Amino acid sequence: MVANKHFDLTVKSPGRINLIGEHIDYNGGHVLPAAINLNIKIGFKKKEGNICHVNSKLKGGFKFNLHEPLKPKSDNIWANYILGVINGILKLRPQQLSAFDCEIEGNLPIGSGISSSAALECGITFGLNALFNLNLSELEQIKIAQKAEHDFVGTKCGIMDQFAVTMGQEKKVILLNCETLKHELLDANINPYKIVLLNTNVEHELASSEYNTRRKECEKAIEIIKLKYTDYRHLAEVPLEIIKTLENELGQLVFKRATYVAEEEKRTIHASIVLQNGDLIKFGELMYASHEGLSKKYHVSCPELDFLVDYSKKHNSVIGSRMMGGGFGGCTINLIHEDYVQSYIESITIAYKNQFGIELSSLKADISNGVSLIN
Ligand code: GLA
Repeated sequence: MVANKHFDLTVKSPGRINLIGEHIDYNGGHVLPAAINLNIKIGFKKKEGNICHVNSKLKGGFKFNLHEPLKPKSDNIWANYILGVINGILKLRPQQLSAFDCEIEGNLPIGSGISSSAALECGITFGLNALFNLNLSELEQIKIAQKAEHDFVGTKCGIMDQFAVTMGQEKKVILLNCETLKHELLDANINPYKIVLLNTNVEHELASSEYNTRRKECEKAIEIIKLKYTDYRHLAEVPLEIIKTLENELGQLVFKRATYVAEEEKRTIHASIVLQNGDLIKFGELMYASHEGLSKKYHVSCPELDFLVDYSKKHNSVIGSRMMGGGFGGCTINLIHEDYVQSYIESITIAYKNQFGIELSSLKADISNGVSLIN
């Protein structure tokens, strides 16, 4: 167990949920994420020499030489999250790292849309920052983690995951403007409902390539919009009314994507208001509408996710449900009345198994603090 060994320091790095505002971060709009109580633990120990050794219970180990240029590995994608972060730190703080070993373990399911990747990137960044007194600001850490994913993994992700993992606070959701990075911590008053993640346990191959394709489609949309409306810089700030006037210019597919983005941005702002007013039923309706858009207009859902959301609509104990994260598999996020969580999980697990022959897994998520040291 990482927690029991003699490390110089140990970090706890959480996964994240996103209540609403999906595929909006890279479009410069608002998202509503939070860090959760499921996490990985990373132990760090300084050592002599140049060779660092990283070991994970789940993924095995790899070594690298701190004094040789770091490059992405083609045969170990998982290692690239870590190498990318170290490369970023070395660029910003040259010669301030010396050799270390680190060991990783945890209970975050990989590829399930709760950002085990950001937990890893931000956990390594945070740990090395503390171990070597690098004095990196939170924002510098967030950006190092995001850039690692762009440059070493090849996913052109937005900033939401790394922001939530680093800045999350217990019982608060983060209303984050992904363009200015201004953010507000809102009380997550969701009683008597619980946040339950239902993991389809499928990860369709499209996930990474289609993610980058969506990003390109949105870039295309704003490029076309700017020809006529020169002041806009990001797709999420363009009102639906304007997008509707450009249907021909955008073409059918890009028009659909842009419509989704405008609607989801509006929903997210609306959801943050109703959450503060305690109107959880409306909040849940907005979650359902978000899923509908992700599935029918943004095309990032899959039959397994759609099945889970459709099933929940027949049960009053669930007030909101939608796919969460990049899509093409992974989890749905559900708001379920606390008295019915167990019975609902039991019934949907059977229904899912009957439909797809796959075991569903469920995770009860509590909103927790972001990355931190364990004493
Ligand atoms: C992934 C990315 C995020 C975000 C979501 C979709 O989790 O890492 O930046 O774009 O997908 O909202």
